Amino acid sequence: MTRTLAIIKPDAVAAGHAGAIISRICSEGFTVVGLKKILLGKRQAEGFYYVHKERPFFADLVDFMSSGACIVMVLEADNAIKKWRDLMGPTNPEQADESTLRRQFGTNIEQNATHGSDGVDTAAFEIGYFFSAMELLG
Ligand code: RTP
Ligand code: MG
Repeated sequence: MTRTLAIIKPDAVAAGHAGAIISRICSEGFTVVGLKKILLGKRQAEGFYYVHKERPFFADLVDFMSSGACIVMVLEADNAIKKWRDLMGPTNPEQADESTLRRQFGTNIEQNATHGSDGVDTAAFEIGYFFSAMELLG
């Protein structure tokens, strides 16, 4: 079993899609081992996405991620990192399969409904960014 950090982004929370996304997470066989609803400040959003700080979309991304509440989760499954990224689909919802969360709930390449860690090291950093050990149920 491995763990990944998932976020339901502010666009999907504001549109009322959190329940449908969490339902899909459960039906696809993930175990939710941690979950909370938070409002990121700009500094917190910058720190989370610091690997993108030189990218042209960074300022817009930080504004978006701090524009409203997010739901952050730790998901557990066999091969959780890839399994969650496959369920989300690619960054741009227009290029995503019909069955994916970003196609169903995303708006555009930025406001794309969900986040997922992209590797083992990233997952460890991102889980630790939001959750302490005692907040995660094994
Ligand atoms: P994420 O980190 O959120 O799971 O998304 P990802 O791996 O699919 O994509 P990544 O390249 O890591 O980009 C992080 C987030 O930045 C926004 N973005 N905007 N305007 C643009 O061209 C652009 N490109 C990326 C998206 O919110 C993307 O998920
Ligand atoms: Mg990424």
